[in-house]
Amino acid sequence: MASQTDLHARFGGVVPEVAARAHVQRLLPVIDEALQQAGVTIRDIGAVAVHHSPGLVGALLVGVSAAKALALALGVPLLAVNHVEGHIFACRLAAERDIFPCVGLVVSGGHTSLFHCRNAVSFERLGSTRDDAAGEAFDKVAAILGLGFPGGPAVDREAANGNPRAYQFPRSLLDDGLDFSFSGLKTAVLYAVRGRDVAKPTEPPIGQKRADLAASFQRAVVDVLIEKCRRALRRTGLKRLAVGGGVAANRSLRSALSELAATEKAELFIPPMALCTDNAAMAAQAVELWRLGRFATLDLDAEPARA
Ligand code: KG4
Ligand code: ZN
Repeated sequence: MASQTDLHARFGGVVPEVAARAHVQRLLPVIDEALQQAGVTIRDIGAVAVHHSPGLVGALLVGVSAAKALALALGVPLLAVNHVEGHIFACRLAAERDIFPCVGLVVSGGHTSLFHCRNAVSFERLGSTRDDAAGEAFDKVAAILGLGFPGGPAVDREAANGNPRAYQFPRSLLDDGLDFSFSGLKTAVLYAVRGRDVAKPTEPPIGQKRADLAASFQRAVVDVLIEKCRRALRRTGLKRLAVGGGVAANRSLRSALSELAATEKAELFIPPMALCTDNAAMAAQAVELWRLGRFATLDLDAEPARA
């Protein structure tokens, strides 16, 4: 396993070029470590799966190039999986049984999307964010509150001591649609901290005020995510909800989702914390592609924007 969290913390966020270089440095040692832990050698590998979309193009290119080289050298099939769909697939891994068809919510640092997941390889997008992803909003608000990077877990901890009703932050519900928007909420937190003169340098808030800001912001995000999930469940008539992505580790969201599932009489699938954030097990969707004979070719490309 390799994590770039400490590296990115130094810059207060993910710098694409830095991330791509770290991928180059760490990819082969991580593959070696994975083989060792599994007790196999590279010659035992029957196929290579790679997340080729969506994401930062530099990091994706490193993974796609390595996967193609490995598949070619070993003479084994190549399988291309989608990273966002992989977050939903983590629910299936954790549940160890079929979870489809279901409504899927992916809430990560790069994506906030709702899907109608018909089966393991057929995902229809119902809505997605028009600006910031939910995790991005957590990270930016954490920076405004002086809580550091990664922001999500820090806001989660800080919010535990705050009053979620202390500040009335906007909930952008975009009429009756299933899209999301979090940039107005982030700006509202900025105004609450700095006043209207946002350019003026201000010390980040401390003590109870900071906890109240974190709790009120978090509640606004959770309220929007819950309302959109409710709509998606009712609109599709589905009684299963699968939630993945880093923000699915948020404690307030997890408990609100449990309440939603109870009131909507739906089954909730949510992975344990370790499977919520990015991990290679999510690529297990490739097994389904393998069964269907949907192999990728060596002209596979990184597709940064496809969600
Ligand atoms: O899925 P992920 O690991 O990477 C992407 O594909 O983006 O998600 C990372 C995001 C970050 O924005 C991080 O702040 C957020 O997930 N996150 C959380 C929590 N843990 C991680 N957000 C809210 N509460 C958390 N406990
Ligand atoms: Zn992710």
